[in-house]
Amino acid sequence: MSLKGIEIQTYRELQEKNSLAPVLEQAFGWAFDPARFDKSIRTDPRLRDGAVGFCAVKEGRAVGYVGVMDFTLRTVSGADERVGGLYAVATHPEYARQGISTALIARSHEYFLAKGYRFSILTTSPTIVAHDFYARLGYFDVAPFLSAYLGARTKRLETPTRRDLSKPDYDRMLELFHKSVRGRTGFALRDKDYLRMMFKQYEIASKECMTTERGYMIFKKEKEHARIRELVAEDGKEMLRLIGIVEGMTKKPVIGRLGIPYSKDLIKAYGSQGFTVLENGHGVLMAKELAVRASFSVSFGDKFCMGALDHF
Ligand SMILES: CC(C)(COP(=O)(O)OP(=O)(O)OC[C@H]1O[C@@H](n2cnc3c(N)ncnc32)[C@H](O)[C@@H]1OP(=O)(O)O)[C@@H](O)C(=O)NCCC(=O)NCCS
Repeated sequence: MSLKGIEIQTYRELQEKNSLAPVLEQAFGWAFDPARFDKSIRTDPRLRDGAVGFCAVKEGRAVGYVGVMDFTLRTVSGADERVGGLYAVATHPEYARQGISTALIARSHEYFLAKGYRFSILTTSPTIVAHDFYARLGYFDVAPFLSAYLGARTKRLETPTRRDLSKPDYDRMLELFHKSVRGRTGFALRDKDYLRMMFKQYEIASKECMTTERGYMIFKKEKEHARIRELVAEDGKEMLRLIGIVEGMTKKPVIGRLGIPYSKDLIKAYGSQGFTVLENGHGVLMAKELAVRASFSVSFGDKFCMGALDHF
């Protein structure tokens, strides 16, 4: 492993931000636009106050990247715990297997520890080489992300009444969300800033979000399918009603993203509506205990939840 001639800089320090484009496109297929990303950094509460990421820089150009985010999670005791998150771990193919990611992740862990964070989290897939690499660095699987699938149908279902559906109302959504995640840990804390960021990040139009008295649903109707991105409701009956609304919009397949669900009712609702619920998806949340005495299971217990829109 040789890191000769390679320097580690924060994303904010990196001069040639465009040099990240091939690194991120090769790894994730992203068309990286620094101006657009800078806009997100200014408004995203997970990035706004931090280093944004660490870059391996050779002769002024980035050849590797590890993004760093800040999260506030809820613990078993109901307290807030600030944790670090790694995103967009990528090395330029011509610089692979030279220890670049290892060095950037080590730098990120130092950075999190300096902030007083006891845990680092990331999302990945057990099917890629990075998963074993993370495991060797001390990360373990927290829980997989669940999805639900309904095939194409010959007929649309009868659409439940949409009379009481209204445009997104952040206050109402937050109230419903916090009610639904009561007693849960992890991504159970949201504020308006966070919600705004989600809407922006996933380009959710107001017509793609329905709020009722007892629940809300964020969905996307695409050419080939419809996707339920978040479904929050006070009870199973309201969940069924909201799922039924999407089924009534299209005959195409419907995909429900459940993340790490906040309630068993959600799995039941999809199941009883004829969806196949995949309880072991290819996506997984991993965590690492950074501090000597930190225990993820003691802090978060077995009630950890994470919405599909919390994915990072
Ligand atoms: C995964 C990735 C980030 C590794 O970057 P890297 O700078 O080459 O990583 P390192 O050189 O520090 O290697 C760390 C370890 O990862 C494992 N690893 C990396 N590439 C591997 C490969 N192609 N096959 C098997 N193991 C591999 C090895 O255990 C390696 O240690 P070793 O070389 O001592 O055996 C890089 O391959 C990449 O950008 N992949 C595409 C994007 C991606 O999958 N990112 C992770 C998303 S969650």
